[in-house]
Amino acid sequence: MIELLLIGIGTGNPDHLTRQAEKALRSADLVLIPRKGANKADLAELRQAICDELLQGSAARVVIFDLPKRDAENLDYRAGVDDWHDAIARVWTDTIQAEIGDTGRVALLIWGDPSLYDSTLRIAGRVDRAVPLKVTVIPGITSLQALTASHAIPINEIGAPFLVTTGRKLREEGWPAGADTLAIMLDGECSFQAVDPEGVTIWWGAYVGMAEEIILSGPLAELAPRIVETRAESRARHGWIMDIYILRRA
Ligand SMILES: C[S@@+](CC[C@H](N)C(=O)[O-])C[C@H]1O[C@@H](n2cnc3c(N)ncnc32)[C@H](O)[C@@H]1O
Repeated sequence: MIELLLIGIGTGNPDHLTRQAEKALRSADLVLIPRKGANKADLAELRQAICDELLQGSAARVVIFDLPKRDAENLDYRAGVDDWHDAIARVWTDTIQAEIGDTGRVALLIWGDPSLYDSTLRIAGRVDRAVPLKVTVIPGITSLQALTASHAIPINEIGAPFLVTTGRKLREEGWPAGADTLAIMLDGECSFQAVDPEGVTIWWGAYVGMAEEIILSGPLAELAPRIVETRAESRARHGWIMDIYILRRA
């Protein structure tokens, strides 16, 4: 039996790792780190640095594997993602079997927490069909928590709901019904520009929790152009960017 440890590592600050995460990592026989070619946004170096620091004196072996690419040409988005997840599950299976056979503990370091816009648990479900797996999740600090902490704000108003969605949904479908507070993730296109800014406040953050962190907040009408400019400039300077924001309407 293989035990797969999905360890939430927070959003780039090594101090986000919980003691539970450290213990789980040190208990692993094999740690798998995905690499997306020369793409800095795969954060392979950061994962490697965490391992270098925490695995001293442990028997865990660290193996870097090349992440298969998603076929962006596939017009059926869901089918493309399904094929891609199958391909990743195959690479995991092959790497695990080659490195430790069919017994032991394998760790994957999950950005933030595995519950939030992350497909690792779904991919693990596919590996299971090939190799019997026990999946254990170690929770991590999400980018949404890191954002609210950096701005020192609560995510919800008293007794009110909030809704987490993607930049694409906001752009294509407008402000969703049912919540006056939205958290927007996976937005490469500053989709807040598609919202009527009247009475809306934004709390924006890029690289939250990391040394590069930038946060801005204020009325959307005033701040939108500045965020667009800051985002473009930071992305050019670092070669990659991850940002997240909260919108609240009065
Ligand atoms: C694939 S999702 C992974 C989310 C992750 N599982 C979590 O718990 O936060 C990637 C998105 O999370 C957000 N994100 C992750 N890390 C971030 C960071 N350090 N700063 C700002 N946004 C971040 C961005 O919206 C990014 O597009």
